[in-house]
Amino acid sequence: MLEVRCLLRSVRFCSSAPFPRHKPSAKLSVRDALGAQNTSGERIKVQGWIRSVRSQKEVLFLHVNDGSSLESLQIVADSSLDSRELTFGSSVEIQGQLVKSPSKRQNVELKAEKIKIIGNCDAKAFPIKYKERHPLEYLRQYPHFRCRTNVLGSILRIRSEATAAIHSFFKDSGFVHIHTPIITSNDSEGAGELFQLEPSGKLKVPEENFFNVPAFLTVSGQLHLEVMSGAFTQVFTFGPTFRAENSQSRRHLAEFYMVEAEISFVNSLQDLMQVIEELFKATAMMVLSNCPEDVELCHKFIAPGQKVISFVDKAQYICCLIISYTEAVEILKQASQNFTFTPEWGVNLQTEHEKYLVKHCGNIPVFIINYPLAIKPFYMRDNEDGPQHTVAAVDLLVPGVGELFGGGLREERYHFLEERLARSGLTEVYQWYLDLRRFGSVPHGGFGMGFERYLQCILGVDNIKDVIPFPRFPHSCLL
Ligand code: 4AD
Ligand code: MG
Repeated sequence: MLEVRCLLRSVRFCSSAPFPRHKPSAKLSVRDALGAQNTSGERIKVQGWIRSVRSQKEVLFLHVNDGSSLESLQIVADSSLDSRELTFGSSVEIQGQLVKSPSKRQNVELKAEKIKIIGNCDAKAFPIKYKERHPLEYLRQYPHFRCRTNVLGSILRIRSEATAAIHSFFKDSGFVHIHTPIITSNDSEGAGELFQLEPSGKLKVPEENFFNVPAFLTVSGQLHLEVMSGAFTQVFTFGPTFRAENSQSRRHLAEFYMVEAEISFVNSLQDLMQVIEELFKATAMMVLSNCPEDVELCHKFIAPGQKVISFVDKAQYICCLIISYTEAVEILKQASQNFTFTPEWGVNLQTEHEKYLVKHCGNIPVFIINYPLAIKPFYMRDNEDGPQHTVAAVDLLVPGVGELFGGGLREERYHFLEERLARSGLTEVYQWYLDLRRFGSVPHGGFGMGFERYLQCILGVDNIKDVIPFPRFPHSCLL
C-alpha cells in the first residue's frame, strides 16, 4: 500500500513538472569559466557586462566581465549577429560552448550560441569610456560607475580579500569577534571629533534626547572591547568608525573602517607589537598570494616603481624598528630638513615628521613608543618615569602613509585611573569604566588599525578616497 502511494505521488510530481529535454547550461562565473579544466565544448551560461567589442569579417569578439576576476572572458560570436546593441557597458547573458582558445592570449573562450541583452548602455553618454585609462581623480566623480573599471575592480576585490584575511588571522589566533556598537554615548579618544546623532524631523522632541543622553557615532570600539576583555582574553572588532575631522587630506576620512584588538593579561608593549607585526605581515602575505593579478595591476597602474611595494613584497623578512617618542623627537631636531611644524617634545608628531622618520629608518615600518602623557587619552598606562612622564602608547608608522596603527597598554590600576579621570572631570561619565578596574581588573592592552590606510600602504594608493567604495569627507557625501 505504502509503495503504491509513493508511486502515485511521484507520478503526480512528474506530470506537473516534466523534466526538460536538454540539460540546462550550467551558470559559471567568469572566473570559474576562465579556470575550467573541461574545455571540450561544455555548455555554459555567463552573465556580466561588456568590456570590449571587436568586429571582424566573420566573427565578433566580445569581452565580458562579471567582477569575479580582473580578466574578462572572450566570447566568439557569428558576425551576422546584429551587434548594434552589444555596446561597451551593456549587461548580457550568453550561452554557448566553452572551448580551448586557439589564441595564446587566453586559455578558453566561449563560442556563443545565444546572446541576450539584459540592459543596454549608451556608450557615448556613459562617463566611463572604452579603452581609456581614466585617472583616479576623474573616477572619483562617478562613485556609482567607477566599480566598473579594471582598477577599482581590483582594489575592491583586494579589499574583500583583505577583510577575509584579517578575520582569518584573528580566528586562527584564537580571538573572539565582537560587534561593538556604532551608536555610543562615549568619546573614547576624547578628541571631540564626534558626529552627534538625533532623529530627524517629526520624531524629534524639542529639548529631549532620543536616548536620554547625547549619542554619537563611534570614533573607536576600544572601550567596548575593554568591557569584553574582562571575560574573553582576546577580542577583536572590525567595523565602521566616524570622525568629524575637518580634514581633506589624502589619509583622512569621516567614515572609515577600523580593525581593533584587545588582549588581557598583557604586561608589555613588546607583546602588543608582536601581534601588530604578525597581523600586518600575515594578512599582507595572504592578500599578495590570493589575488596576485589584482595586486599587480594596482602596482603597475597606480604606483609604478614605488618603493612602498618593495617593502610589502619583502614584509615577511622585515622586522619593524622600535624607537621611543623621545628618540624620534631627537632625530627630527637633528634633521637638515625644514619642517612646517617645528619638532618639540610634548607635541604631537605631524605627518611630515612621520614621513621623515620612516625615511630616516630606511623606508620600513617603525614603532614609536612611550608618548608624553599629556598628548594621549586618559586610558593610557602611566610609565611613572619621572619628570618626562610618558605613557605606554605605541604607534606604527609605515612608508607612504605614516601612522597606520595606534594603541598601547591600558591603565588597569584603579587609583591611577581614578585620579586621571578626576583631573579631566570625567569621573561620573566613566564610572562604568572605572568599575572594570574594581571587579577583576587585569593588565591589558590593544590597538586599532585604519583599514583604508592599510590598503593604501600595501597597494601604494596615494589617496584614501580610492580604497573605499563610497568615501565620506568634509563637503562630500555622494550617493
Ligand atoms: O590612533 P587612533 O585614533 O586610535 C584609536 O582610536 C584607538 N582607540 C584604537 C585602539 O587602541 N583600539 O586610530 C587608530 C587608527 C589610526 O592609526 C589610523 O590608521 C586610523 O585609525 N585613523 C583613520 N583612518 C582614516 N581616516 C581617519 N580620519 C582616521 N583616524 C584614524
Ligand atoms: Mg593615533
